Amino acid sequence: MVVQAISTNLSYDFAADVRAGLTRTGQKELPSKYLYDDVGSALFEVISRLPEYGLTRADERLLRRHAHDIVDAVPGTVAVAELGSGSGKKTRWILEALSRRQRTFYYPVEISRTALAMCERELSDIDSVSILGFEREYLEGLLEVSACRRKGQRILVLFLGSTIGNFNREAGVQFLSSVRNILASGDSLLLGTDLEKPASQLVRAYDDELGVTAAFNLNLLVRANRELGADFDLRQFEHEAKVNYEARSVEMHLRSTTSQVVNIPAAEVSVEFSEGETIWTESSHKYSLDEISPTAATAGFRCVRQWVDDQWPFAENLLIAE
Ligand SMILES: C[S@@+](CC[C@H](N)C(=O)[O-])C[C@H]1O[C@@H](n2cnc3c(N)ncnc32)[C@H](O)[C@@H]1O
Repeated sequence: MVVQAISTNLSYDFAADVRAGLTRTGQKELPSKYLYDDVGSALFEVISRLPEYGLTRADERLLRRHAHDIVDAVPGTVAVAELGSGSGKKTRWILEALSRRQRTFYYPVEISRTALAMCERELSDIDSVSILGFEREYLEGLLEVSACRRKGQRILVLFLGSTIGNFNREAGVQFLSSVRNILASGDSLLLGTDLEKPASQLVRAYDDELGVTAAFNLNLLVRANRELGADFDLRQFEHEAKVNYEARSVEMHLRSTTSQVVNIPAAEVSVEFSEGETIWTESSHKYSLDEISPTAATAGFRCVRQWVDDQWPFAENLLIAE
């Protein structure tokens, strides 16, 4: 196998996004993509093994059990692109099933260099699979993958782990439409979606007893201290996970436990926090099985198969670009 990575050119601006998110009127916010620096990506791996967080295990069980059905449903010569691959562990099942029928090109697209490196290491031993990683944002990376398409080749996009849940429903449809517009008719998208479940179970999954998810969330402030010279005092912030019933999501926040001012030199701001005020850092929207097909249709896909885990409500949905 061949393993390569394309790693220049990431175009995000952490300082500008921090300034915009913390100076906006109303709810302060930081984009969840900044949770995934070196430490954040490593902590996410630990979260995926916690007993409270059944999501990754459900996703993995479905891929292990149904990889052959999934690849049989995407005939022809197929290249695989994965958006936000993380460590890529679960992807092994798809690549192994596909590599029995063809030589396979696998293109993980990741914003986190650490996650991309883990993924390349994890999957580099599979025969007949060549890996070319893109250290890019999702759509930028997918555009580059599509530019590598060979004549007659189809693309199977993997968007696993319910990462789609980080978008609100409207932005999720917009994102899927953008993915569809990069693809050709007949290409496919395997979309993992975490399904609705009781609030108590959700809060436990995003606020585990050991405090790993709390560390994952608070690491965003550590990152701002390190990269932007900020002076967040971690003892003055705490992790909070709460259910938003209207949005059907779980939200992660960082709550200021006192009134305070935080200086962020590289973002050229000083930010005031009142006691109890929060920074909203991530949302995880939950889906009902029935809404996937109409959502996919609005974005230009046809949902042809769904597989649901029998232990943790989670669905793998196979969508074909119309
Ligand atoms: C919730 S984790 C899921 C990882 C893996 N797919 C899984 O199912 O376990 C989301 C992954 O997407 C990456 N990511 C987040 N925002 C991104 C963006 N805008 N572009 C590319 N990758 C991104 C993160 O670095 C992280 O590895």
